Amino acid sequence: MRQRAREAGETGIAQVLPDDLEIEGALITGMAGASAVQWSHLGAAAEAVPVAERVLRALRLLDTMHLGFPITQLQHGLQTATRAERAGADTEMIVAALCHDIGKVLPGGSHAAIAADMLGPYVRSDVCDVVRAHWFFQLRYTHQMIPGRGAEDRRRFRRKPWYALAERFSDEWDQASFDPEYDTLPLEHFENRIREVFGRRRYGGSPGLNPETPVSART
Ligand SMILES: [Fe+2]
Repeated sequence: MRQRAREAGETGIAQVLPDDLEIEGALITGMAGASAVQWSHLGAAAEAVPVAERVLRALRLLDTMHLGFPITQLQHGLQTATRAERAGADTEMIVAALCHDIGKVLPGGSHAAIAADMLGPYVRSDVCDVVRAHWFFQLRYTHQMIPGRGAEDRRRFRRKPWYALAERFSDEWDQASFDPEYDTLPLEHFENRIREVFGRRRYGGSPGLNPETPVSART
């Protein structure tokens, strides 16, 4: 299917639509009357939208949010990713470290679940599970402000194969990464890794549908 990029509009993100869809004038204006042909075009167009660019834009929005810390949430993600990279983590873990709090760009919901659902199709399951569960691991540091939670609530995951990785993420990288004096690498340093990870769909589906994964992750 031949496709072309439309000029970027207000979002700054070019839409990619099949030429023949426009020729037919068949863009969907209401779901109820849409045909199977229209839906098939829509699916192809959605796949062609550059996911990495959308992720980068969402990450940049985090640079407007301090949430009471001395550095922004983007800088926190960058610092977490920098520590992961310097510790020898692989690309999927580094990108997950950068994106683990991306859900904070929106109010409400579970920021950890938002990030895990976003990462799910693009990173292996242990990395996704570390992100989904990270709120529980951070309770070691945050439990005093959350009634009913304990410092060792993370132990519910102690038999999971990714438990040690989650401890390393939480204790060595995430919890330490609010330091304005740390030599944090810039977003540009990670752009190629982001494009590599979000440029392909390796694992398909969202582990967010797994009932065993935590859903009440929120800080
Ligand atoms: Fe974090």
